[in-house]
Amino acid sequence: MRTSRSSFRARLAAFLTSAATTGVLLAAGAPAAHAADTPLRDLAAAKGKVIGTAVTGSKLTGTYGDTAGREFNALTPGNAMKWGSVEPARGTFDWAEADRIVDFAEAHGQQVRGHTLVWHSQNPGWLTNGTWTSAQLSRLLNDHIATEVGRYKGRLAAWDVVNEPFNEDGTYRETLWYNGLGADYIAQALTAARAADPSAKLYINDYNVEGVGAKSTALYNLVKSLKERGVPIDGVGLQAHLILGQVPSTLQQNIQRFADLGVDVAITELDIRMQLPATEAKLAQQAAEYKAVMNACLAVSRCVGVTVWGFTDSDSWIPDTFPGQGAATPYDENYAPKPAYHAIAEALGGTTTPPPTGACTATYSVTGQWDNGFTGQVRISCSGASLTSWKASWTFGAGQRISQAWNASCTQSGAAVSCSNASYNGSVPDGGSVTFGFNASWSGSNPVPTVTLG
Ligand code: XIL
Repeated sequence: MRTSRSSFRARLAAFLTSAATTGVLLAAGAPAAHAADTPLRDLAAAKGKVIGTAVTGSKLTGTYGDTAGREFNALTPGNAMKWGSVEPARGTFDWAEADRIVDFAEAHGQQVRGHTLVWHSQNPGWLTNGTWTSAQLSRLLNDHIATEVGRYKGRLAAWDVVNEPFNEDGTYRETLWYNGLGADYIAQALTAARAADPSAKLYINDYNVEGVGAKSTALYNLVKSLKERGVPIDGVGLQAHLILGQVPSTLQQNIQRFADLGVDVAITELDIRMQLPATEAKLAQQAAEYKAVMNACLAVSRCVGVTVWGFTDSDSWIPDTFPGQGAATPYDENYAPKPAYHAIAEALGGTTTPPPTGACTATYSVTGQWDNGFTGQVRISCSGASLTSWKASWTFGAGQRISQAWNASCTQSGAAVSCSNASYNGSVPDGGSVTFGFNASWSGSNPVPTVTLG
């Protein structure tokens, strides 16, 4: 069983000619806690808030579907419910993607936010290229709302009934609707939506209305007058397509003033874009800004929650719309949670472990092997992390037994082997490595174990 050093030497030629077997593995220097984190939707639910995401219906399988279902308690179709998607030719409807999203949401116990009924953009060509009298336009508007809202009656939590009605200075945007019907198109649309589904909350949604300013004040005045006139209006959506470093300082104050007016507020399309490439510093700043937005909503009881406009950078509109910018969502393109994800979780009261910035790993190799003995080596390497002492443990799966070790002190109890650093090699700097070796016996087979570093 024991192999003496002299027999070890005598077999030098044997080990040098035997093939070295390299095994692995790994133990993180810092905990990689993602999988164990409480899903955002559970954290949000405990606070009575929505944490939603925009989704693309065709992607709701695999990791994308798993993540959307696990982490979010609300979905917004990114494009599937827009007029151009649902009625590409007059009288020809395509509900496939919208249905798929609503079905997925119901299967996963999620709310759906309908987006959007009346907008100047992403309308079908037949509508925008047509020439309509105001009576015809009014009819088109009412029929569209009756059809679409009616289709999902009782199944949607909310509708963005009117999207982006204002210019930056607070005047009305001159759209097909405004030009044909005047500002009253908004009241008409809200009234039609209420008739088609009395249980859905009806919203007006816009961008650059997150802080107090001319545009948000125009929205405020509109909501106030609609309420005074008895037009159904339940909430305002603040899209929140934000730029890194430009979260409005008046966000919470602005949310509060709408709440005080007697409507709900939702952050409906949050993303925080940056100039690419993303760096660690920018991602850390982005995380702080995601947290600030979450906190502003959490501070106001009528703020129902926050929806991100795509949860992964692989499904974000930013790179196509703002060339050179991106990395705007809480997950990277490979579905790894970014610091922003952890910031959202923390704002919602989660106790997530910060993601590891680096790791130390142990690699096990058989450097020589003969009839019934072998020499093994374990290399402990650190990158982005460091150690001041270490212990490497593994289980010998086929009856192997250590006879001697160098550069570590090893003990074996049954199949369990544990090796701790010698007095002189406990420290492994960032970017550095140490090795230790051992001789051991084997018979039958000599499988490579997985080493755990602790
Ligand atoms: C965007 C979608 O994400 C893109 O896929 C599409 O090409 C353009 O529209 N404000 C809104 C959303 O209300 O509907 C927009 O969505 C983003 C800006």
